[in-house]
Amino acid sequence: MYYEEISSSSTNYHGEVTVIDLRSDTLTKPTKKMREAMYNAEVGDDVYGEDPTVKKLEETAAKMVGMEAAIFVCSGTMGNLIAIMIHCNVRGSEAYCGDSSHCLLHEQCGASQIGGVYLRPLRNNADGTFDICELQSKLRKDRDHEPLSKLVIVENTINGMIIPQKWLKELVSFCKERDLKLHMDGARLWNASIGSGQVAEEIVSGFDSVTFCLSKGLGAPVGSLLCGSKDFIVEARRIRKVLGGGMRQVGVLAAAGLVALENIPNLINDHRKASVLASSINDMQSKVFSVDLSTVQTNMVFMDVDSNVVPATRFAQRMRQLDDDEIIVKCLALNDSVVRFVFFSEITENELMLAIKKITHVITELDPNC
Ligand SMILES: Cc1ncc(COP(=O)(O)O)c(C=O)c1O
Repeated sequence: MYYEEISSSSTNYHGEVTVIDLRSDTLTKPTKKMREAMYNAEVGDDVYGEDPTVKKLEETAAKMVGMEAAIFVCSGTMGNLIAIMIHCNVRGSEAYCGDSSHCLLHEQCGASQIGGVYLRPLRNNADGTFDICELQSKLRKDRDHEPLSKLVIVENTINGMIIPQKWLKELVSFCKERDLKLHMDGARLWNASIGSGQVAEEIVSGFDSVTFCLSKGLGAPVGSLLCGSKDFIVEARRIRKVLGGGMRQVGVLAAAGLVALENIPNLINDHRKASVLASSINDMQSKVFSVDLSTVQTNMVFMDVDSNVVPATRFAQRMRQLDDDEIIVKCLALNDSVVRFVFFSEITENELMLAIKKITHVITELDPNC
């Protein structure tokens, strides 16, 4: 029973060694149902707008977020870039985002590199929001010396945290009053939705566009949806083409995405597992390794490491070394003092327990006071 449960997961078992990979929820692999749908997908040339499966996926996505239309793009990065390029389509435009946001830190600053748009960071608060007063203070004056303030970008979830709805509402009315466009990087929008109990439509209400990813916790192999008004999506098709994102019989990929949207996995299980792991670290009462439990709201755990005692990279390396129990846990040291663990549907209860066992062992070894 125990072996069956483990072997049905996507985790690798090399002989007796158990490898539990908690680096990212992008590691999900397409389910059997997705692979069957891909095999059977009805396809056409999507650059001609003739792929029925892509059309169905786009219509489904738009409906689910309460927007007029959607476009299937190859990645979250491409979806965000297209949105920025449309909302900031005048030379000299400026967009605002949190200083820990993905589009600022992890998308090669494509906004500037390709779109000619300056991304101006706002300090992210501990809960993932930023100060609307800071945004106000940074907005440009209408004079020739300054860029044009055009767009505000919000990431939700951000580092596993769900942006409070009350703050989103305040931001929406602030932006409407000032004629600023709003884009949500909702790569993990469904984690935000399931974690907060709010439907996606409510979360993005008042936003001009949203990107969400199929290829993370939802389990599809490739792709994201960019959603917005009909006119916005017409423009998005044009920009997607110049970015090299016009794909032909791409219904084979859209088919897996449709399965994902029609059967959204029970992400609450991933959230619970993250919470169990985080609490088990804190139960050790280590002064070197700890988690701020208030940040564990969805499927991610960020463990703080006192790098004066041991660098986070050393912890992550040690987790990959074998002990008598022959467990390897892959996790990401994001810098010298933070390690990230991410949960997704293929991580079983047993693997959670084995991961906790390994973490406990390594913390006890690296923190002599534990
Ligand atoms: C918050 C966020 N936005 C955007 C992206 C980009 O998605 P992709 O890897 O599909 O380009 C990621 C990827 O991890 C992400 O975490």
